[in-house]
Amino acid sequence: MNEAKRLIISRDDIARRVRELAAQISKDYRAKDPILVGILKGAFIFLADLVRELDFPVEIDFVRLRSYGPGTTSSGDVRITKDLEVPIKDRHVIIVEDIVDIGYTLHYLREHLSLQHPLSLKVCCLIDKKERRAVNVPLDYVGFTIEKGFLVGYGLDCGEKLRTLPEVYELLD
Ligand code: PRP
Repeated sequence: MNEAKRLIISRDDIARRVRELAAQISKDYRAKDPILVGILKGAFIFLADLVRELDFPVEIDFVRLRSYGPGTTSSGDVRITKDLEVPIKDRHVIIVEDIVDIGYTLHYLREHLSLQHPLSLKVCCLIDKKERRAVNVPLDYVGFTIEKGFLVGYGLDCGEKLRTLPEVYELLD
């Protein structure tokens, strides 16, 4: 694949910001025994890096949500194709997301997890991309705020390609 792309966030900048987020989460949750819930597939790299920077062990689980087809536009029709396997009732939960774009995915998941009565429910996302936001979702820990562009790398894909790039790029036309 040889798409034109522009570097947006370098490996060093990602690593530094992940350490900062982990330090803040460590401070806020050390005594709370939280569960971190990663949204597959995009968040798997961010979650893996984040948990290894925390200064205490955490439980993790994953959900799989899909709203994007092979293209670059969300259908808005969010579906869970893999649900939690660990009960979260009366637990502190942190959703870990790679990117919040339109907001449908996170909005849906927050509603879904709230039904299970966690003690608290917060969100940590690597990238808050505001250009296309259609739903107002609260974000508690944010790595980077980016105004626009279709982003790939560090978990983010385009039609299942480019997900494993270690940096974040904007795809150019
Ligand atoms: C992408 C991304 C976020 C979500 C953001 O996932 O990883 O999870 O979309 O969407 P939003 O526009 O609703 O805020 P996608 O559905 O493409 O699946 P993937 O993680 O498997 O790539």
